Amino acid sequence: MPVEQICTIVSADRLNEFAYSFTLEAGKLVEQQGLRAGQFLHIQCGEGLLLRRPISVSLAQADDPEDLVRIVFEVRGEGTRWLAGRRAGEKLNVLGPLGNGFACGPKDRLLLVGGGIGVPPLLGQAALTWGHSTAVLGFRCAERAMLVEDFREKCRELHLCSDDGSLGFHGFVHQKLEQLLEKDADYTAVLSCGPKPMLRSVAETAERFGVPCQVSLEERMACGVGACLGCAVQMADGTMKHVCKDGPVFDAREVDWNV
Ligand SMILES: Cc1cc2nc3c(=O)[nH]c(=O)nc-3n(C[C@H](O)[C@H](O)[C@H](O)COP(=O)(O)OP(=O)(O)OC[C@H]3O[C@@H](n4cnc5c(N)ncnc54)[C@H](O)[C@@H]3O)c2cc1C
Ligand code: FES
Repeated sequence: MPVEQICTIVSADRLNEFAYSFTLEAGKLVEQQGLRAGQFLHIQCGEGLLLRRPISVSLAQADDPEDLVRIVFEVRGEGTRWLAGRRAGEKLNVLGPLGNGFACGPKDRLLLVGGGIGVPPLLGQAALTWGHSTAVLGFRCAERAMLVEDFREKCRELHLCSDDGSLGFHGFVHQKLEQLLEKDADYTAVLSCGPKPMLRSVAETAERFGVPCQVSLEERMACGVGACLGCAVQMADGTMKHVCKDGPVFDAREVDWNV
């Protein structure tokens, strides 16, 4: 059951020219409300009539006196620009937990495939499966890379990719994924977050190798709780589902990739 929580920003760091990382004191959202990485918080961005903005939970940790939640975001428009201007010690009005995160357990051997700002929501799964999982992280260029050392610490293997060749493998994450699966397809699942064309290619690659795949979808959102139809997406069986309430994580086979 989502609750409104006033969270103190305990640290506000800049990861690169575009991305920010905040750690929030989040009451008992983790311990009592069950907030997990991969779910999202609906954050009031500004004092005026601005709607809340959905931001994924990157890490969630039960703690005293308050639980700690890490979010990572890039500036896209007015709301995230306002958010980027907040400093440690200031407070945020947050609604959560919202949505369903990835389904996985601590013993799972996962392939975590993230692109751009889709990388942060996978960090919690790397932490959960500490030392078991392999991460494939893709960025447009080296300047946009983020959380590399965080993933390196938590994963068995880390593969970096860039569109322009300025970092790691020169190419797309699904091409690196294919190379890895050709050598070893014995993974519990592929978990992926990033732009939809990337997710589609990742889903097709996982399917070809017979590895289950979960994808975290992004849609513009208004209410965030399934009340406005703003985030409806077409499913392969012809039904519509809400990214905010039924997702954002879906089994890749459920999604209609042709719309
Ligand atoms: C479930 C979910 C989790 C998300 N997690 C993160 C996260 O962890 N970090 C992060 O940086 N961003 C995340 N986003 C995207 C983030 O919510 C948007 O960037 C933000 O709402 C933009 O608000 P704004 O006021 O800054 O920009 P706006 O002025 O509202 O929009 C700026 C531009 O971004 C586009 N846009 C806005 N919202 C979305 C969206 N949801 N999907 C795709 N394009 C959008 C608009 O069409 C416009 O072109 C997430 C979105 C969803 C749905
Ligand atoms: S954002 Fe309103 S139904 Fe999903």
